[in-house]
Amino acid sequence: MGEQVIRGRLMCPHERERAWTLIEDGALVIDAQGRIERVVDLGEAGVDDAAAQGYRALPETCPGAVWMPGFVDTHIHFPQTMILGSASGELLPWLERSVFPEEGKFADVAYAEGVARTFCEAMAEQGTTCASIFSSSHPGATEILFRELERRGMRGDVGLTLMNRGAPAGLLRDTAEAMAASETLVTTWHNADGGRLRFRVTPRFALSCTAELMAAAGALAERHGLPIQTHISENPHEITATLEVFPEATDYLNVYERFGLVGERSLFAHGVWLKPREWDALAHAQCSVAHCPDSNFFLGSGPMPLKEARARDLKLGLGTDIGAGRSFSLRRCCSRAYDASRLTDSTTDAAELLWDATRGGAVALGRGDQIGLLTPGLDADLVAIVPPVTTPELPLATLCEHLVFREDHHGVVETRVRGKVVWTSPPLR
Ligand code: GUN
Ligand code: ZN
Repeated sequence: MGEQVIRGRLMCPHERERAWTLIEDGALVIDAQGRIERVVDLGEAGVDDAAAQGYRALPETCPGAVWMPGFVDTHIHFPQTMILGSASGELLPWLERSVFPEEGKFADVAYAEGVARTFCEAMAEQGTTCASIFSSSHPGATEILFRELERRGMRGDVGLTLMNRGAPAGLLRDTAEAMAASETLVTTWHNADGGRLRFRVTPRFALSCTAELMAAAGALAERHGLPIQTHISENPHEITATLEVFPEATDYLNVYERFGLVGERSLFAHGVWLKPREWDALAHAQCSVAHCPDSNFFLGSGPMPLKEARARDLKLGLGTDIGAGRSFSLRRCCSRAYDASRLTDSTTDAAELLWDATRGGAVALGRGDQIGLLTPGLDADLVAIVPPVTTPELPLATLCEHLVFREDHHGVVETRVRGKVVWTSPPLR
């Protein structure tokens, strides 16, 4: 792949504020390695060098589309692809009735292969270019997911889901076995292809792990400098049960603190019921939060108070949390996050939430220097969406509202990672 130029409308997130700049007619130059080399506003007076004149002669790439950084799904479960929408109650009964029986099937490598294809396709179809993924507790299925991401050229963090109690025997791995499998996966996959793929240490949640396994997970992360992901304070019954099995802990976060699992590389999903001490400690330790509003509605967990994260300027991304979440679309997730904000006295809007779903997610995953901006030096992970209303000069805020709230509209026409097309809409017949 040589140098490429994309010509069209470019939606450029700001690096730190949750805001965007829209270039109505721009050129995005991508080098042979898939890195952004130059971004030119062709409408700007004075941009008339020879290269810019050449870009002006190019046809629009994906006519009618806006180009923006690809979506980052900061929390998703690969082995729950097939049980999406399985309505069987709140968190703990749902895990028992719907999730654990399905995750058990991932002992079968052929089954895992088929689902890995469906899973990656579904993400790319929605414009997701990067995700932080829980695999099952099976090393074989985890290896298969890595291979599928590699084959398609997608970006992601994958964790072998650690669990040694509280689930059917087929899902449990003892500490020694889980650590040996993790070490092998780290050696093969962590930072593969220049960091496109990474291994993320993934204790499922405190209820699935003994103190021994949690301590081993913390040590594994420390030994290799690995990122970490887990669940926290999603459901009141979960919180009560957690504090019963870790009676020495002062609150839910403190369980993880005790095992070296709380730091700047840690990503906590949900956080619906966190207390002020926990929010403060997350901010102090520079942790990230994966906000999973659709899942929180589906399981009746409750709306996460976004204002708590915002007040502390926490790194925050959005997560579909498939299969408690009902859609692979981060745009739908934004819409649901807006609903949750209304219920929690939190102020936000479509533009801010789209920032969370792209740039915010990149930063939350510790990939802020790789992706999430249309800026030279970063990788060209992009999505092109034809918005439901294509009137030019639509105010940026309105464009964002249409992208987020027109939930019936798909419009994704191309998804690229490092400049390479990983999904394209089927041609009309
Ligand atoms: N807590 C522990 N495991 C899970 C899971 O698979 N999904 C959700 N939503 N919460 C969890
Ligand atoms: Zn989850």
